[in-house]
Amino acid sequence: MSNYILIKKKIKKFKKKIIVSSDKSISIRSILLASQAIGTTKISNLLESEDVLNTLKAVQKLGINYKKKGNNYFIEGFGLNNFSIKKKITINAGNSGTLARLILGLLVKSKSTIKLVGDKSLSKRDFSRVIKPLKLFGVNIKSKNNYLPIEISGTDFLRPISYNEKIGSAQVKSCIIFCALNTPGTTLINAKISRNHTEKLLESLDYPIKVKRVNSVDKISIDGLSQFKSFKHIIPGDISSASFFIVLTILSQNSEMIINNVNINESRIGIIKILNRMGASIKLKNKKIYKGESIANIFIKSSKKLKGINCPSSLNSSAIDEFLVIFLVAAKAKGVSIFKNLGELNKKESPRLNIALDFLKMIGIKTLRKKDNIKIFGNPNLEIKKNIHIEKYLKDHRVFMMSCIAALTFGGNWKINDKDSINTSFPFFLDILKSLGAEIN
Ligand code: S3P
Repeated sequence: MSNYILIKKKIKKFKKKIIVSSDKSISIRSILLASQAIGTTKISNLLESEDVLNTLKAVQKLGINYKKKGNNYFIEGFGLNNFSIKKKITINAGNSGTLARLILGLLVKSKSTIKLVGDKSLSKRDFSRVIKPLKLFGVNIKSKNNYLPIEISGTDFLRPISYNEKIGSAQVKSCIIFCALNTPGTTLINAKISRNHTEKLLESLDYPIKVKRVNSVDKISIDGLSQFKSFKHIIPGDISSASFFIVLTILSQNSEMIINNVNINESRIGIIKILNRMGASIKLKNKKIYKGESIANIFIKSSKKLKGINCPSSLNSSAIDEFLVIFLVAAKAKGVSIFKNLGELNKKESPRLNIALDFLKMIGIKTLRKKDNIKIFGNPNLEIKKNIHIEKYLKDHRVFMMSCIAALTFGGNWKINDKDSINTSFPFFLDILKSLGAEIN
């Protein structure tokens, strides 16, 4: 089957209510924590995408059984560090940086050597950010220049650490927290603010973890070796998946959309703050709290008057996976948009900052880059009339989905490769677009 799609027409106006795929970060964390609980955990609405299915396969290889019944997964845990590993095994994290980095924190006491591998994209990503703190705990971990494959062999001599996490990476923070669960004593982390689903899940389990925010740093303390019981969790919609439909609506004419039941954790809603400052109309309604996480329905209307933004970099972490689509709005806004300190974007599934700048140039938008700071010179009259072929990039689900939104709102004749990449996070992305009236072949 061909692995590309063709889009030749803009989407016509729509007024629809949708739901998007379940949250990837919370799905992966729930499975990993279920694997450390005692008893059978029930997870409803789990995201069934490749990253999450690879997480299920990974814990299964470590001796954890699971069953699916209807919309529920039942995962049987035997407690902290109770994986049954008899021989050297290999875990394949596929495309998922989150799975690869978080699971390392749970393998620190394993009874035999475990090899961690991933796909082409993941094998190009730097693991020094987690290898460094794990070594401070006393973990035996080997790699070639901090890239996959990594070999980790457990130790009984873990010591708690005090660590300054300065990148603002939730993957690094969560890897340290997971290692701390298996380490005697109290581990301390001073973490630059990033998504905090791991902390919230542990708090909902009454785990002895404390978080205190001082200026822009979360001071986290975790007491190790406190066993928790199995739990129930219902996974809400993913704001990162919703972001494509938020931008589709904003950039389409006379359209409205409601996206129901989306996680709106404060550490994830940078896109809403940024786009509303640019003149968009995005409202959060019917807010509720579930296990410490905020959930709401998102109401979006097309925007006629978008303006540029000087985006404070304090919002970067809470919009880290959404910048590709935010740049589409900047391309169509009146005036210049400024985004600073975006170096982390080049450390994702593909070098997204470089790709975004290439992409904007290709669609006729002027940009200026100084190190990791960029300016986008918006054009409210942007209208593409040429053929565009998106093919040369390292397979990246978010580049594919962003390209579809550009094609459906800016016009032109598009051929977009790597359709399969959506299976990483949002397998029914194209089906929703089609249900809104998009013509995609
Ligand atoms: C994630 C954290 C972010 C994000 C990624 C998912 C997580 O990465 O980009 O898609 O679930 O912890 P970093 O922690 O590297 O910023």
